[in-house]
Amino acid sequence: MNVDDVIFDGPVVPEPRRRQPAEDLSPWFQTVEDVGPAIDPQTFFTTPAPLEVDIGCGRGMFMFKASTTRPDTNFLGLEIDFKEARRAARRLVRRKQPNARIVGGDAREVLSKKLPEASVTAAHVYFPDPWWKKKHMRRRLFNDQFVDLLARIVMPGGHVHSWTDVEDYFVVIKGLMDNHPLFVALPPAPENEAEHDDDYHTSFERRKRQDGWVIHRGLWQRR
Ligand SMILES: C[S@@+](CC[C@H](N)C(=O)[O-])C[C@H]1O[C@@H](n2cnc3c(N)ncnc32)[C@H](O)[C@@H]1O
Repeated sequence: MNVDDVIFDGPVVPEPRRRQPAEDLSPWFQTVEDVGPAIDPQTFFTTPAPLEVDIGCGRGMFMFKASTTRPDTNFLGLEIDFKEARRAARRLVRRKQPNARIVGGDAREVLSKKLPEASVTAAHVYFPDPWWKKKHMRRRLFNDQFVDLLARIVMPGGHVHSWTDVEDYFVVIKGLMDNHPLFVALPPAPENEAEHDDDYHTSFERRKRQDGWVIHRGLWQRR
């Protein structure tokens, strides 16, 4: 007789695979629910400092570089894709970066409900998803409501930076921003020379420039 026949009454059913508990990356990564009804920029970071937001921060190249090179500014990354957001946060955790935090969720919810009015000195929106297909275009981040949200959180004198390789989307972004009564267009910073893989602002900028795409850059100031 086989030993298994003695020990088990019936067929051996494999145990269901257990989900790993989500890795705790707090306070560097928190979900939009975790942060509660509001983010207080004075207490959300280790030290109060001027605040900049990176909307759709992806895997966080800008967050990492900006927060390490500008320690006197706090950076809040907003990312709807938790896998990317967690990947971005892991780099910050390794350095215990005091001035950078990532919130996972829809940036529009954070801009409309969680951040106080006029709480941000700069908003960065690099390579927002273009949603190529006509039927999906209305999913694009930039529309009248989104620009109103930018006007809500950016303080007078503050800036909005937005870059994309998608020319027709840039025309839309520029039209919305240039025509908003609370923003004025400024000349954007010139493209930097890139000799190394790290000489880019974001992962998408690196990918698109290395593939030879022209990058359209916009800069606006809040009146
Ligand atoms: C094309 S990627 C660009 C990532 C990064 N900014 C860069 O330049 O490398 C666009 C990012 O925006 C994120 N995203 C899209 N809609 C969003 C939303 N409503 N709230 C937060 N993130 C969003 C996507 O998940 C994606 O990571």
